[in-house]
Amino acid sequence: MKSALTFETVATCSTTKARASLLTLPHGPVNTPVFMPVGTQGTLKGITPQQLQDMNCQIMLNNTYHLGLKPGKETLDLAGGSHKFQHWNGNLLTDSGGFQMVSLLKLAEITEKGVQFASPHDGSLMMLTPEHSMALQNSIGADIMMQLDDVISSLTTGPRVEEAMWRSIRWLDRCIKAHERPHDQNLFAIIQGGLDKDLRRKCVEEMVKRDTPGYAVGGLSGGEEKNEFWQIVSLCTDLLPKNKPIYCMGVGYAEDLVVCVALGVDMFDCVYPTRTARFGNALTMNGIVSLKSGKYAADFGPIEEGCDCSTCKNYTRSYIHLLTASKETVGCHLVSVHNVAFQLRLMNGMRDAIIKDDFPAHVKKFFASYFGGNK
Ligand code: GUN
Ligand code: ZN
Repeated sequence: MKSALTFETVATCSTTKARASLLTLPHGPVNTPVFMPVGTQGTLKGITPQQLQDMNCQIMLNNTYHLGLKPGKETLDLAGGSHKFQHWNGNLLTDSGGFQMVSLLKLAEITEKGVQFASPHDGSLMMLTPEHSMALQNSIGADIMMQLDDVISSLTTGPRVEEAMWRSIRWLDRCIKAHERPHDQNLFAIIQGGLDKDLRRKCVEEMVKRDTPGYAVGGLSGGEEKNEFWQIVSLCTDLLPKNKPIYCMGVGYAEDLVVCVALGVDMFDCVYPTRTARFGNALTMNGIVSLKSGKYAADFGPIEEGCDCSTCKNYTRSYIHLLTASKETVGCHLVSVHNVAFQLRLMNGMRDAIIKDDFPAHVKKFFASYFGGNK
């Protein structure tokens, strides 16, 4: 199908499947491997689009489910899409909505037609179909849009896994048909099939036939064993075409990012860095620093020595400890800025190492430092 992106691999690792590439989207270049921060309601929690731009973030996420409810399609159309609405000139990716409903709502019911749910605003019954998701995503105008998929927990077993896989393929076909802007918005397929390798293989085979501009691996990072998670990711990166970007959805722990990059994944997203910031947890190369702890009360160093984020340049652990311990929202903002900067630095470090042909040594150093307990 039509594509509004280019994807060129600039370096590959000779002993792992890691690769550094240049993904060019309608709103500019993206250096991969990339972590994409999540702005659920049209902004990251605690970070303005301007701050994100100042951190050289090249792509962020929005959620169709949230923006479709509020401000809604009409307002998005009037605003001229989500880039203008948020004053964000970088790239945007929208998730299709099904995952958010299934993960957030107890009342979601999935049928062949779509996902039915009760609006959290007034309880009225609404239906998100592949066609409706595409219409909303066309109004949002993201550079990458995701198909509506039938999402199940990664712990689900039995016939429901196969049903969800085939339904996701049928919904992809409906999404392709309903897509009105293939010239400037890229639709990605989402591989499903749970932890069953045969189903994953079949799903890759079917979705590759649809020839979408990129592919995502979905349905993972839901409490399954790491070993199973990595095997499914590895199987998918082996079978997917090498000339298109591969996106592993909902993955954001540093150690998972490093392993999945080694397995050949190019793109990631997760609410983790901003969510854990709201609990006062800062991510550093030496592991997670819990700033609420009294031991930082008189620590006048930055969150992380050598970090060039605006929080580390201007504020001390002691000050942020006071803010987070007393639940001042500014404390969350400051830690969120650092955590997103950390994720971007982690990804840039891996990219540089791949280009310098030093990736395996870089990974070793990361694990020694991240789990070395030297905070
Ligand atoms: N976010 C994390 N996992 C998934 C998934 O499987 N599907 C969608 N649409 N979004 C996700
Ligand atoms: Zn910092």
